[in-house]
Order: sequence, then C-alpha cells, then structure tokens
Amino acid sequence: MRTHELAVIGGDGVGPEVTAAALTAARAAGQRFGFTLDTEEYDLGGERYLATGEVLPASVLEELRRADAILLGAIGTPAVPPGVLERGLLLKLRFDFDLYINLRPVQLLPGVPSPIAGLEPDDCDLLGVRENTEGLYAGAGGQLYRGTPYEVATQESLNTRRGVERCVRFAAERAVARDGHLTLCHKTNVLTYAGDLWQRVVDEVAAEHPGLQVDYVHVDAMCLYLVDDPGRFDVVVTDNLFGDIVTDLGAAVQGGLGLAASGNLNPTGTAPSMFEPVHGSAPDIAGKGWANPVAAVLSAALCLEHLGEAEAAAALEAAAGAVLPRLGAMGGPGMGYSTAEIGEVIAAEIADG
Ligand code: IPM
Ligand code: MN
Repeated sequence: MRTHELAVIGGDGVGPEVTAAALTAARAAGQRFGFTLDTEEYDLGGERYLATGEVLPASVLEELRRADAILLGAIGTPAVPPGVLERGLLLKLRFDFDLYINLRPVQLLPGVPSPIAGLEPDDCDLLGVRENTEGLYAGAGGQLYRGTPYEVATQESLNTRRGVERCVRFAAERAVARDGHLTLCHKTNVLTYAGDLWQRVVDEVAAEHPGLQVDYVHVDAMCLYLVDDPGRFDVVVTDNLFGDIVTDLGAAVQGGLGLAASGNLNPTGTAPSMFEPVHGSAPDIAGKGWANPVAAVLSAALCLEHLGEAEAAAALEAAAGAVLPRLGAMGGPGMGYSTAEIGEVIAAEIADG
C-alpha cells in the first residue's frame, strides 16, 4: 500500500468545508487504487492571525516542506487587511517553495451550463500555465511621500530569463502532450521590455519543438476570444497577473469558480506542490454547506496526478463530472446537496467504479 503525506490547510471561510469534501473523495480513490492519504491539518489563516498575530511561523513552514503535497482550501477574511494573509501565507508558500507554475485547466464539463449560449464541452478545453513567482507579484516597488499630495507608488514587474524560460518550457511540454498548440498571452505592444523577453523565449523554445504550433495573443484580445471562441486555445502560457485575471474569466466560462481547479507546482520536486481551488473563502456563505466542492475535488485530482496516481486522478475527475449534472445549481442553496454530501456522492461514485 502506497502512502502519501498530505499537509492540509483548510484556511478560512468555506475553505475547510470544501477541503474536507475533497479529501472524502480522494480517500475513496485511494481505497480503490491502493494508496492511503496520511493527512496533517494545519491551522493557518485569518482566525489564527487574529488570535495570535501569526501568519506562517518558520517552524510550520519547515514542517510543510516535508509533506509530499499540500492541499489548501482558501485564505482570507474581511477582518484582516488586504495583503497580510495573501502575501504572508499564500504568496510566501508559492515563493519559498518555488512553485513556479500555476496550472489552471479551463474545461467545460458535460452537463454543466456555461453562461455562453451554445458552448459545448468540445469547444472549451484549455490549460492555463501561469508563471507563479515573478511579474507584478514579486513585491518590487515602493512608496514615497505617502499621505501627502505628492505621493508616488510604483509596483514593478520582474521577469527573469530563468523564470520565463522554465515556465515556457513547462508549457511547451504540456502542449506537446496535448493538442500540440501553445499560445503566448501578453501585452507585447505596450509592455515592450517584459513582452520582448517573453516573446524571444517563446520563439527559442518553439524552435526546440518543430511539431508544435505556436502563436501569440494580446491579453485584452484573449479576454474577448475566451468568451467568443475558447476552442481556439490549447495551452496558454502567460505571466503572473495576466494569468490571475484571464483564468478567473476562464472559470466563469466553464460554469463558475465552484468548478475551477489549480495546482501550484514545483516541477523539480525540491519542495511540495500545493493544490487549491481558484475560488476564495466566500465568508458570506461559510458554514452553510452551499459551497460547491468540485473545484477542490478537481484540485485534489491534480494533486493525485502530481503524486503519480494518474488512474485515481482520472477516476476523481470522472466521478466529479458524473455528479455535476445531478446538482440543481453549481453553488449556493439550490444545489440539492450540501458541500459534504457532494463529497460523499463523488466518493460513492468512485467506489462503484
Ligand atoms: C489566486 C488568488 C491569489 C492570486 C490571491 C488570493 C493572492 O487570486 O490564486 O488566483 O492573486 O494569485
Ligand atoms: Mn485569482
């Protein structure tokens, strides 16, 4: 029997609920495919910060480092000022563990209504590869004369040759394994320094993969095409902030944030990768059982795939896909099942094979 050590950070709001449901489903996959999940829960997030002032103590960071992978629910609560938990916890883990890829599939599952009339599953199946450690997220910049009429704020986008190259290489490999089509999404007509670096790296990597079809789209046009014709994309590689924004739009196209999964990957394995639904903590519905756990279940599937459990990952995806059409709504009070019940229904579906 194989064992995978999972660190679990339920976090804030609906985070713990959706994570628990995802674990119910993932454990069922373990039973069927011959592995156990050895989980350790970490109490991190807004409540701990408000009670103790701690966001991510160094000792906890070192414990997390020893896990095989991390499952995260959601972070953020209105009582904590913006940036404290995001920078202190989520981005700190992405940066310290060098989780340089943020993998975000945008897939319309059968039976799920898209807000785009007439969109069929075959018309929407793309993989977002978002650079996850640089760009405008790096924290470079500063303020001068704060609070005066002369104040100045700068926020700089950092793009290193190494950071861009490893991200583009990863995306190209994924594209080769899929439909063989890679799109760079940027704003090279305005961001001429960063855009030039990204474009040159894409051109170089394209030359290493002769069979790969490579093209380019401006990020504003990407927003238009994502709504108009998402089928034109296969793998889309982009920087940190563009990736953040366009994948939220992608989530809407695929039926809502309750369905959007992500993996923060360290492909070299020098630290554990971290898997989380794209949605936030939704404090307004916390504890009501109204959160759709499918995004967390699909994130757990990405986790299992990363841990080498490809069959289990596929079974989780298939089971979630089979259960979705039975829900009355994709989230909220109209689902017909609670968050926990959906976890159980997916688990039962997996057990039945
Ligand atoms: C995401 C989130 C985070 C981000 C926030 C919470 C810092 O929006 O994972 O997409 O901007 O990356
Ligand atoms: Mn986001």
